[in-house]
Amino acid sequence: MLQPRELRLEEMGDLAEIIPGPEPALQMAVYPIPSFGGRARRSIIPVCEPTLSGNELKYVTDAVETNWISSAGSYIPRFEECFAEKMGARYGVACANGTVALHLALATLGLEPGDEVIIPTFTMIATANAVTYLGARPVLVDSEPCTWNMDMNQVEAAVTARTRAIIPVHTYGHPVDMDALMHIADRHGLFVLEDAAEAHGARYQDRGVGSLGHAAAFSFYGNKIITTGEGGMVTTNREDVARLAWNLRDHAFSTERHFWHKFLGYNYRMTNLQAAIGLAQTEQLEKFVAARRSNAACYTQLLRAIPGITTPPEAPWATNVFWMYGIMVEKEFGISRDELRRRLAQRGIETRTFFIPMHCQPIYFDQYRGQRFPVAEDLCRRGLYLPSASALTRDDIETVVEAVAEARKG
Ligand SMILES: Cc1ncc(COP(=O)(O)O)c(C=O)c1O
Repeated sequence: MLQPRELRLEEMGDLAEIIPGPEPALQMAVYPIPSFGGRARRSIIPVCEPTLSGNELKYVTDAVETNWISSAGSYIPRFEECFAEKMGARYGVACANGTVALHLALATLGLEPGDEVIIPTFTMIATANAVTYLGARPVLVDSEPCTWNMDMNQVEAAVTARTRAIIPVHTYGHPVDMDALMHIADRHGLFVLEDAAEAHGARYQDRGVGSLGHAAAFSFYGNKIITTGEGGMVTTNREDVARLAWNLRDHAFSTERHFWHKFLGYNYRMTNLQAAIGLAQTEQLEKFVAARRSNAACYTQLLRAIPGITTPPEAPWATNVFWMYGIMVEKEFGISRDELRRRLAQRGIETRTFFIPMHCQPIYFDQYRGQRFPVAEDLCRRGLYLPSASALTRDDIETVVEAVAEARKG
């Protein structure tokens, strides 16, 4: 039977200090919802929630009424085409979630055990796991303090004869400096898979993320800017990658005989019902991105008055979509990040701590024992994100900022 890797904090040495405390219990408070004319009430301000205010119900109803509820049906190609086009990519391969989108895109490379894939240590576990599923080894690099994304100087230094690919993660919606990365990749003949799970609609200079590497993976989990409940998509400009990904997604059935398999394929299909929601969501992408950006501007303006809070980055060449509005709690704030979370939770305000880096994860700790990544560790120790849904109102944001200011006073 599979046994968990229990990692005791004493085993981690001084790394233990960065591990967040237990999740604080959310106390119920009551907030009016202005978009319902103040009539409806909700008990907390959640860290995120979907906005299903477009054609979602109409398209799902159509899929049900026409009897196309499984993974064939017209909404799949319509969603793939519409989403890929908005990202600036030629092809989209819809699949079951963002993790399998990463896995599917990497599987097209034919990685072998011992192959290496460079990823940031500061990411969500799926980035590393997708590499591990294929028997390859994630090689970790630190982040840069100015964008919280992977540090380009460390990427080049991490390349070895076994390196096959690089996975840049557009963290919390801020794009990676992709020209610099593609330069390194081209010099060494490496495949670049963007982990764009959190960055729908983000732009690098004037180009969309998801069209900048050789392939990209998006997530449509319920907390993402575009959601299908669960879902994902590989986008790419390369026809060979798209064709292989479509085939691997569907058990790698052959065209010559149905039950005849020349690749180890997967069932990573998306349903027509999910794609119907995805299409309706994608039609509203610009509206969602504009809301996230304007909410972020509002937070940044109000938080500026509070000493000891660092607001999220936006490089001059970047359009950050602020999937999550992340802040760093400085010493000057007077209480720790965990204490701030506890005090916000007492007022019904939900937050999340930043990622716990891969080298601190129980399942990866032994593999990276002794390696240190100070920027990622600092982000983990002091970072949290505030409620960030597209539907957040100015009232919500003012309530959250007021609670942050009052938490400081005790
Ligand atoms: C950076 C990153 N990569 C991959 C994923 C995996 O996506 P999913 O949850 O849809 O499998 C996520 C999910 O939140 C993520 O944040």
